[in-house]
Amino acid sequence: MRIKSKLIAPAAGMAALLTLTQCFTDRQNEGERLYTQYCANCHMDDGSGLRNLIPPLAGADYLVNHRDELACIIQHGQTGNIVVNGKNYNQGMPAFEHLNKGQITNILNYVQTNFGNSNERFTIPEVEKYLDKCRHLPEQ
Ligand code: HEC
Repeated sequence: MRIKSKLIAPAAGMAALLTLTQCFTDRQNEGERLYTQYCANCHMDDGSGLRNLIPPLAGADYLVNHRDELACIIQHGQTGNIVVNGKNYNQGMPAFEHLNKGQITNILNYVQTNFGNSNERFTIPEVEKYLDKCRHLPEQ
């Protein structure tokens, strides 16, 4: 019986399994996908940033020292002078108003655990708590 079912494993079943696996993988990699879609064109695929225009995410002390601001930076953008790894940056980062707290959490966790970073991960309730603080700031 076992052998027989192995032999007749239908192609459709395999395809369904592949689709399921793909779906699961996509969910797991949401942070990476969103990063590639929304962030990599400025911060680069490897998080290295761009000269003195775009600050790095790879090895950035900002991610640790300003952990409570990161969710709001993604949701509402960031302007004005900031210092990352001792260097000044003063360009505008656009807001991503349409991203929800789960998506922001996944992007942040991708950033916190890639590019050589091994920073503490975020939970969705934690991100929600930070977003509550900047909810009433004027749109940028
Ligand atoms: C159009 C270019 C652009 C895009 C797209 C962009 N950023 Fe930024 N980002 C910047 C700039 C410029 C700054 C610095 C802003 C300033 O000088 O005040 C910044 C600052 C930051 C900072 C704080 C400083 C640091 O380096 O740690 C983080 C974190 C960050 N961005 C993450 C992201 C994430 C995550 C995304 C995608 C959702 C993203 N950015 C998309 C340009 C961009």
